Amino acid sequence: MTRVFSGVKPTGHLTLGNYLGAVRRWADEDQYRAESLFCVVDLHALTMQHDPARVRRLSRQAATLLLAAGLDPEQCTVFVQSHVDEHARLSYLMECTATDGEMRRMIQYKEKSVLAKAAGDSVRLSLLTYPALMAADILAYATDEVPVGEDQTQHVELARDLAVRFNQRYGHTFVVPEATSPAVAARVMDLQDPTAKMGKSHESGAGIVYLLDEPDAVRKKVMRAVTDSGREVAYDRESRPGVANLLDVLGACTGRAPGALAETYESYGALKKDTADAVVELLRPLQERHAELVADPGYLETVLRRGAERAREMARPTVDAAYRAIGLLEP
Ligand code: TYM
Repeated sequence: MTRVFSGVKPTGHLTLGNYLGAVRRWADEDQYRAESLFCVVDLHALTMQHDPARVRRLSRQAATLLLAAGLDPEQCTVFVQSHVDEHARLSYLMECTATDGEMRRMIQYKEKSVLAKAAGDSVRLSLLTYPALMAADILAYATDEVPVGEDQTQHVELARDLAVRFNQRYGHTFVVPEATSPAVAARVMDLQDPTAKMGKSHESGAGIVYLLDEPDAVRKKVMRAVTDSGREVAYDRESRPGVANLLDVLGACTGRAPGALAETYESYGALKKDTADAVVELLRPLQERHAELVADPGYLETVLRRGAERAREMARPTVDAAYRAIGLLEP
């Protein structure tokens, strides 16, 4: 059976980008057609300056939102990365397989190290080695497919390269994984700056729809979205990125092709209104379920404990095999 692994980093409140680019497919498709693991990758939240209490809070919230989005612990394994030692164990072997140059070429490293420096912080070494840990997350589970948004495909490519290299050097150990992205909304853009990705930790939040935003807030953010100087509604991501982004979001919500939707609108106002309504309706059931889950914290704890047990059992044989293959003595 196909094995699927993916994760979300608790560095901020989850956004519409996380949902449309990744989480929705995990819940609606992947968990039913593949043996799937979905992880709150909390170790990855420590690569930039962080507040321990906030990471704890956001980790719990992210796990709750994954369940609210429809991940069913009977269908898939939901767990927290730091509960399973195999990730950190394998990460070191990935650091011994990757090169310094490879790590420095990662777009996210380049972008985030600039941000850290601009904020007057030092750049943590873990920001550079992050893709080694991410490769370990994926390879530990003999993963075939990694459903992610477009911004993560470079990291998955690196995981592929490391798997191939390790297998060539030390004998076949890892499955070589592949990234999969949704046809529409693989890269949801910031509503205030449609040239930038809608990201959790953006400064102002005015261009970001969070999954737990109230309907009024969602409507305001969508209605105030920056559009382009033209007038007629056309789908062109290059010259009309703002309108194209709204069409992508509406298309993802309604299951219609953004290009075809463009032809049905004569004004930006009408497009915004329909997009706002569609997002509010998309989020409504998720928010209702989130409220129920928050009222029962014991349930989340049980799910995460069982998930970690299952994940540990799945990862250990592969990680042990990698330790033997690379030349480490059996304990
Ligand atoms: P993270 O937490 O930034 O995002 C989680 C998922 O959401 C997708 N995503 C988006 N998709 C479309 N439009 C957007 N604006 C948008 N923003 C985020 C991301 O592509 C991702 O699929 N490094 C990863 C976490 C990770 C991981 C892994 C993922 C760690 N180990 C192993 C897969 C497998 C990250 O920072 O995701």
